[in-house]
Amino acid sequence: MPRKPLIARTVPALRRAVDALRARKATVALVPTMGALHDGHVSLVRLARRRASKVVVSIFVNPTQFAPTEDFSSYPRTWKSDMAKLSAEAVDLVWYPDVKTMYPDGFATRIVPEGPATAGLEDRFRPHFFGGVATVVGKLFTQVRPDFAIFGEKDYQQLRVVARMAADLDLGVKVIGSKTVRERDGLAMSSRNVYLSDDERRVARELYRAMKESAGRLRDGEDANTAMMAGAEMIKTAGFALDYFELRHAESLAPVTSVADGPMRILVAARLGKTRLIDNMAV
Ligand code: PAJ
Repeated sequence: MPRKPLIARTVPALRRAVDALRARKATVALVPTMGALHDGHVSLVRLARRRASKVVVSIFVNPTQFAPTEDFSSYPRTWKSDMAKLSAEAVDLVWYPDVKTMYPDGFATRIVPEGPATAGLEDRFRPHFFGGVATVVGKLFTQVRPDFAIFGEKDYQQLRVVARMAADLDLGVKVIGSKTVRERDGLAMSSRNVYLSDDERRVARELYRAMKESAGRLRDGEDANTAMMAGAEMIKTAGFALDYFELRHAESLAPVTSVADGPMRILVAARLGKTRLIDNMAV
Protein backbone atom coordinates (compact mmCIF):
# COMPACT_ATOMS: atom_id res chain seq x y z
CA MET A 1 0.00 0.00 0.00
CA PRO A 2 1.33 3.45 -0.88
CA ARG A 3 1.97 5.75 2.06
CA LYS A 4 -0.68 8.39 2.65
CA PRO A 5 0.55 11.95 2.13
CA LEU A 6 0.88 14.21 5.14
CA ILE A 7 -1.97 16.74 5.28
CA ALA A 8 -1.43 20.33 6.48
CA ARG A 9 -4.42 22.54 7.28
CA THR A 10 -2.80 25.63 8.89
CA VAL A 11 0.10 27.84 7.78
CA PRO A 12 2.34 26.91 10.77
CA ALA A 13 1.69 23.20 10.15
CA LEU A 14 2.50 23.68 6.47
CA ARG A 15 5.76 25.51 7.31
CA ARG A 16 6.86 22.73 9.67
CA ALA A 17 6.03 20.06 7.09
CA VAL A 18 7.82 21.88 4.24
CA ASP A 19 10.88 22.51 6.46
CA ALA A 20 10.99 18.79 7.23
CA LEU A 21 10.72 17.93 3.50
CA ARG A 22 13.54 20.34 2.73
CA ALA A 23 15.96 18.71 5.16
CA ARG A 24 18.88 17.11 3.31
CA LYS A 25 18.62 19.59 0.43
CA ALA A 26 15.51 18.13 -1.17
CA THR A 27 13.94 20.11 -4.02
CA VAL A 28 10.22 20.79 -3.84
CA ALA A 29 7.64 20.97 -6.64
CA LEU A 30 4.15 22.36 -6.03
CA VAL A 31 1.02 21.40 -7.99
CA PRO A 32 -1.81 23.85 -7.22
CA THR A 33 -5.32 22.43 -7.75
CA MET A 34 -8.93 22.96 -6.75
CA GLY A 35 -9.43 19.21 -6.20
CA ALA A 36 -11.95 17.06 -8.13
CA LEU A 37 -8.80 15.46 -9.48
CA HIS A 38 -8.68 13.66 -12.84
CA ASP A 39 -5.92 12.23 -15.05
CA GLY A 40 -4.92 15.76 -16.13
CA HIS A 41 -4.06 16.66 -12.55
CA VAL A 42 -2.31 13.32 -12.09
CA SER A 43 -0.10 14.04 -15.11
CA LEU A 44 1.02 17.28 -13.41
CA VAL A 45 1.88 15.35 -10.26
CA ARG A 46 3.97 12.91 -12.33
CA LEU A 47 5.86 15.77 -14.00
CA ALA A 48 6.44 17.30 -10.55
CA ARG A 49 7.88 13.99 -9.39
CA ARG A 50 10.32 13.97 -12.32
CA ARG A 51 11.47 17.53 -11.56
CA ALA A 52 11.87 17.46 -7.79
CA SER A 53 12.50 15.03 -4.96
CA LYS A 54 9.42 16.13 -2.98
CA VAL A 55 5.93 16.83 -4.30
CA VAL A 56 3.38 19.09 -2.63
CA VAL A 57 -0.20 19.30 -3.96
CA SER A 58 -2.55 22.05 -2.81
CA ILE A 59 -6.31 21.57 -2.85
CA PHE A 60 -8.25 24.79 -2.40
CA VAL A 61 -11.41 25.90 -4.17
CA ASN A 62 -10.50 29.57 -4.32
CA PRO A 63 -13.56 31.82 -3.84
CA THR A 64 -11.80 34.97 -5.13
CA GLN A 65 -11.57 33.62 -8.70
CA PHE A 66 -15.31 32.90 -8.97
CA ALA A 67 -17.85 35.61 -9.80
CA PRO A 68 -21.00 35.60 -7.62
CA THR A 69 -22.91 34.11 -10.59
CA GLU A 70 -20.40 31.26 -11.04
CA ASP A 71 -20.21 27.77 -9.56
CA PHE A 72 -18.13 28.24 -6.36
CA SER A 73 -20.65 26.53 -4.05
CA SER A 74 -21.51 23.72 -6.48
CA TYR A 75 -17.92 23.14 -7.69
CA PRO A 76 -17.28 19.37 -7.31
CA ARG A 77 -15.56 18.47 -4.04
CA THR A 78 -14.28 14.86 -3.99
CA TRP A 79 -11.81 14.72 -1.09
CA LYS A 80 -11.81 10.94 -0.61
CA SER A 81 -11.14 10.04 -4.23
CA ASP A 82 -8.61 12.91 -4.49
CA MET A 83 -6.64 11.51 -1.55
CA ALA A 84 -6.73 8.00 -3.03
CA LYS A 85 -5.21 9.36 -6.26
CA LEU A 86 -2.55 11.39 -4.45
CA SER A 87 -1.63 8.42 -2.23
CA ALA A 88 -1.22 6.24 -5.32
CA GLU A 89 1.19 8.85 -6.73
CA ALA A 90 3.16 8.92 -3.46
CA VAL A 91 2.65 12.66 -3.01
CA ASP A 92 4.57 13.85 0.05
CA LEU A 93 2.33 16.63 1.35
CA VAL A 94 -1.19 17.93 0.71
CA TRP A 95 -1.85 21.58 1.57
CA TYR A 96 -5.57 21.78 2.28
CA PRO A 97 -6.43 25.12 3.90
CA ASP A 98 -9.98 26.32 4.48
CA VAL A 99 -11.24 29.69 3.27
CA LYS A 100 -10.68 31.41 6.65
CA THR A 101 -7.07 30.20 6.71
CA MET A 102 -6.40 31.58 3.23
CA TYR A 103 -8.47 34.74 3.68
CA PRO A 104 -8.70 35.60 7.38
CA ASP A 105 -11.04 38.39 8.49
CA GLY A 106 -9.60 41.72 7.39
CA PHE A 107 -7.75 40.26 4.37
CA ALA A 108 -7.32 43.27 2.05
CA THR A 109 -4.57 42.62 -0.51
CA ARG A 110 -4.93 41.63 -4.13
CA ILE A 111 -2.39 40.94 -6.88
CA VAL A 112 -3.66 42.53 -10.09
CA PRO A 113 -1.80 41.03 -13.06
CA GLU A 114 -1.44 42.81 -16.40
CA GLY A 115 0.20 41.71 -19.68
CA PRO A 116 -1.15 38.25 -20.57
CA ALA A 117 -3.91 38.75 -17.97
CA THR A 118 -5.40 41.56 -20.05
CA ALA A 119 -5.00 39.92 -23.48
CA GLY A 120 -8.77 40.07 -24.12
CA LEU A 121 -9.43 36.32 -23.85
CA GLU A 122 -10.69 34.86 -20.53
CA ASP A 123 -10.37 38.29 -18.93
CA ARG A 124 -13.04 39.64 -21.29
CA PHE A 125 -15.61 37.10 -20.01
CA ARG A 126 -14.35 36.64 -16.42
CA PRO A 127 -12.94 40.04 -15.42
CA HIS A 128 -12.48 38.99 -11.76
CA PHE A 129 -10.69 35.75 -12.63
CA PHE A 130 -6.96 36.44 -13.01
CA GLY A 131 -6.85 38.79 -10.00
CA GLY A 132 -8.21 35.92 -7.91
CA VAL A 133 -5.84 33.38 -9.46
CA ALA A 134 -2.75 35.61 -9.12
CA THR A 135 -3.59 36.42 -5.49
CA VAL A 136 -4.11 32.81 -4.44
CA VAL A 137 -1.15 31.45 -6.44
CA GLY A 138 1.05 34.27 -5.05
CA LYS A 139 0.02 33.15 -1.57
CA LEU A 140 0.60 29.46 -2.36
CA PHE A 141 4.08 30.29 -3.68
CA THR A 142 5.06 32.28 -0.59
CA GLN A 143 3.52 29.70 1.76
CA VAL A 144 5.19 26.64 0.20
CA ARG A 145 8.22 28.37 -1.39
CA PRO A 146 8.64 25.61 -3.98
CA ASP A 147 11.54 25.38 -6.44
CA PHE A 148 9.13 24.38 -9.23
CA ALA A 149 5.43 24.81 -9.81
CA ILE A 150 3.55 22.79 -12.42
CA PHE A 151 0.56 24.21 -14.31
CA GLY A 152 -1.45 22.68 -17.15
CA GLU A 153 -1.37 24.05 -20.67
CA LYS A 154 -5.12 23.33 -20.58
CA ASP A 155 -5.53 26.73 -18.91
CA TYR A 156 -3.06 28.39 -21.21
CA GLN A 157 -3.70 32.05 -20.36
CA GLN A 158 -3.52 31.16 -16.64
CA LEU A 159 -0.15 29.46 -17.23
CA ARG A 160 1.21 32.59 -18.93
CA VAL A 161 -0.19 34.88 -16.20
CA VAL A 162 1.32 32.82 -13.38
CA ALA A 163 4.71 32.50 -15.10
CA ARG A 164 4.77 36.27 -15.64
CA MET A 165 3.81 36.99 -12.03
CA ALA A 166 6.44 34.62 -10.58
CA ALA A 167 9.14 36.30 -12.69
CA ASP A 168 7.92 39.86 -12.04
CA LEU A 169 7.75 39.40 -8.25
CA ASP A 170 11.05 37.45 -8.03
CA LEU A 171 9.24 34.61 -6.27
CA GLY A 172 12.11 32.22 -7.03
CA VAL A 173 9.78 29.59 -8.47
CA LYS A 174 10.30 28.08 -11.91
CA VAL A 175 6.85 27.72 -13.49
CA ILE A 176 6.60 24.70 -15.78
CA GLY A 177 3.78 23.99 -18.25
CA SER A 178 2.47 20.46 -18.74
CA LYS A 179 0.67 19.08 -21.80
CA THR A 180 -3.12 18.85 -21.89
CA VAL A 181 -4.53 15.40 -21.13
CA ARG A 182 -7.55 14.55 -23.31
CA GLU A 183 -10.34 12.00 -23.41
CA ARG A 184 -10.20 9.52 -26.30
CA ASP A 185 -12.33 11.75 -28.52
CA GLY A 186 -10.12 14.80 -27.91
CA LEU A 187 -12.14 16.60 -25.22
CA ALA A 188 -9.70 18.12 -22.72
CA MET A 189 -10.21 16.65 -19.25
CA SER A 190 -11.75 19.13 -16.83
CA SER A 191 -13.37 18.95 -13.41
CA ARG A 192 -16.32 20.77 -15.00
CA ASN A 193 -16.96 18.10 -17.68
CA VAL A 194 -19.25 16.36 -15.14
CA TYR A 195 -21.73 19.19 -15.77
CA LEU A 196 -22.26 18.04 -19.40
CA SER A 197 -25.41 16.07 -20.27
CA ASP A 198 -24.96 12.95 -22.44
CA ASP A 199 -26.01 14.92 -25.52
CA GLU A 200 -23.67 17.81 -24.71
CA ARG A 201 -20.83 15.39 -24.02
CA ARG A 202 -21.19 14.00 -27.56
CA VAL A 203 -20.99 17.51 -29.05
CA ALA A 204 -18.11 18.65 -26.80
CA ARG A 205 -15.39 16.99 -28.88
CA GLU A 206 -16.08 19.45 -31.72
CA LEU A 207 -13.92 22.02 -29.92
CA TYR A 208 -10.85 19.85 -30.40
CA ARG A 209 -11.79 18.99 -33.98
CA ALA A 210 -12.27 22.67 -34.81
CA MET A 211 -8.86 23.64 -33.41
CA LYS A 212 -7.26 20.81 -35.39
CA GLU A 213 -9.00 21.96 -38.54
CA SER A 214 -7.78 25.56 -38.20
CA ALA A 215 -4.27 24.54 -37.08
CA GLY A 216 -3.99 22.22 -40.09
CA ARG A 217 -5.06 24.95 -42.48
CA LEU A 218 -2.58 27.42 -40.92
CA ARG A 219 0.24 24.91 -41.21
CA ASP A 220 -0.72 24.39 -44.86
CA GLY A 221 -0.19 28.10 -45.39
CA GLU A 222 -3.81 29.22 -45.58
CA ASP A 223 -4.41 32.85 -44.68
CA ALA A 224 -5.07 33.27 -40.94
CA ASN A 225 -8.55 34.82 -41.23
CA THR A 226 -9.90 32.09 -43.51
CA ALA A 227 -8.28 29.31 -41.49
CA MET A 228 -9.71 30.59 -38.21
CA MET A 229 -13.14 31.19 -39.68
CA ALA A 230 -13.38 27.51 -40.68
CA GLY A 231 -12.86 26.37 -37.06
CA ALA A 232 -15.21 28.98 -35.62
CA GLU A 233 -17.97 27.88 -38.02
CA MET A 234 -17.56 24.22 -36.95
CA ILE A 235 -18.04 25.22 -33.32
CA LYS A 236 -21.14 27.30 -33.97
CA THR A 237 -22.66 24.67 -36.26
CA ALA A 238 -22.18 22.04 -33.53
CA GLY A 239 -24.44 24.12 -31.27
CA PHE A 240 -22.00 25.97 -29.04
CA ALA A 241 -22.36 29.61 -28.05
CA LEU A 242 -18.88 30.83 -28.95
CA ASP A 243 -17.10 33.27 -26.60
CA TYR A 244 -13.85 33.40 -28.59
CA PHE A 245 -11.80 31.40 -31.08
CA GLU A 246 -8.54 33.27 -31.57
CA LEU A 247 -5.03 32.99 -32.92
CA ARG A 248 -2.47 34.52 -30.55
CA HIS A 249 1.28 34.72 -30.00
CA ALA A 250 2.15 31.75 -27.79
CA GLU A 251 4.17 33.80 -25.27
CA SER A 252 2.69 37.29 -25.11
CA LEU A 253 -0.83 36.25 -26.20
CA ALA A 254 -0.87 39.33 -28.46
CA PRO A 255 -3.00 39.01 -31.61
CA VAL A 256 -1.10 37.65 -34.64
CA THR A 257 -2.06 37.70 -38.28
CA SER A 258 0.55 35.50 -39.94
CA VAL A 259 2.87 32.58 -39.25
CA ALA A 260 5.78 35.01 -39.55
CA ASP A 261 4.75 36.61 -36.22
CA GLY A 262 6.28 33.75 -34.23
CA PRO A 263 5.02 30.70 -32.28
CA MET A 264 1.23 30.70 -32.30
CA ARG A 265 -1.56 29.24 -30.25
CA ILE A 266 -5.25 28.84 -30.97
CA LEU A 267 -7.36 29.58 -27.88
CA VAL A 268 -11.07 28.87 -27.56
CA ALA A 269 -13.89 29.30 -25.05
CA ALA A 270 -17.44 28.20 -25.80
CA ARG A 271 -20.61 27.35 -23.92
CA LEU A 272 -22.79 24.26 -24.21
CA GLY A 273 -25.94 24.85 -22.20
CA LYS A 274 -24.77 25.96 -18.76
CA THR A 275 -21.25 24.57 -19.15
CA ARG A 276 -18.38 26.75 -20.32
CA LEU A 277 -15.43 24.90 -21.87
CA ILE A 278 -11.97 26.31 -22.67
CA ASP A 279 -9.17 24.73 -24.66
CA ASN A 280 -6.16 25.62 -26.79
CA MET A 281 -3.69 24.14 -29.25
CA ALA A 282 -0.20 24.96 -30.54
CA VAL A 283 -0.06 25.68 -34.28
P1 PAJ B 1 -7.82 23.33 -11.46
O1 PAJ B 1 -8.86 23.66 -12.46
O2 PAJ B 1 -8.09 22.30 -10.41
O3 PAJ B 1 -6.53 22.91 -12.24
C1 PAJ B 1 -5.35 22.64 -11.56
C2 PAJ B 1 -4.23 22.47 -12.57
O4 PAJ B 1 -4.52 21.34 -13.40
C3 PAJ B 1 -4.10 23.69 -13.51
O5 PAJ B 1 -2.73 23.98 -13.70
C4 PAJ B 1 -4.77 23.19 -14.78
O6 PAJ B 1 -4.28 23.81 -15.94
C5 PAJ B 1 -4.38 21.71 -14.75
N1 PAJ B 1 -5.26 20.92 -15.61
C6 PAJ B 1 -6.63 20.90 -15.61
N2 PAJ B 1 -7.09 20.08 -16.59
C7 PAJ B 1 -6.00 19.57 -17.23
C8 PAJ B 1 -5.81 18.66 -18.32
N3 PAJ B 1 -6.83 18.12 -18.97
N4 PAJ B 1 -4.54 18.38 -18.70
C9 PAJ B 1 -3.48 18.93 -18.05
N5 PAJ B 1 -3.60 19.79 -17.01
C10 PAJ B 1 -4.83 20.11 -16.60
O7 PAJ B 1 -6.54 25.88 -12.40
C11 PAJ B 1 -6.94 25.83 -11.24
O8 PAJ B 1 -7.41 24.67 -10.66
C12 PAJ B 1 -6.94 27.05 -10.34
O9 PAJ B 1 -7.14 28.22 -11.10
C13 PAJ B 1 -5.62 27.19 -9.49
C14 PAJ B 1 -4.39 27.36 -10.40
C15 PAJ B 1 -5.46 25.98 -8.58
C16 PAJ B 1 -5.72 28.46 -8.61
O10 PAJ B 1 -6.84 28.41 -7.78
